[in-house]
Amino acid sequence: MEIKRLNSVEDLGRLRESLRKFMFLPDTPRMNVCCGTACTASGSHKVIDALRREADQRNIPLEIIKTGCQGMCQKGPVMKTEPYNIFYQRVTSEQDLVNCLYLWQRYAL
Ligand code: FES
Repeated sequence: MEIKRLNSVEDLGRLRESLRKFMFLPDTPRMNVCCGTACTASGSHKVIDALRREADQRNIPLEIIKTGCQGMCQKGPVMKTEPYNIFYQRVTSEQDLVNCLYLWQRYAL
């Protein structure tokens, strides 16, 4: 990939879109799970493992993205869906995850 100097906000937008196509699976819902310091300390990696397991068991196509801090450290672990930007906070139990996946699948996918 050729790297060009960005001279405008439009250049940045084009770069963002090209990277998005390059980096993400097309037409696959994503769960952006925070793996910042606070969320990691409060169990975000367990959330990711449980999400993967539940999605596989329910045959839900799901791409899980580990993100940096999402700015709500005191509410961690936090995660956000794409599409629809549904924000989940304090996801700490398996039942929370099952509920999140069930609601997202039922109403958003
Ligand atoms: S570390 Fe997760 S929101 Fe800040």
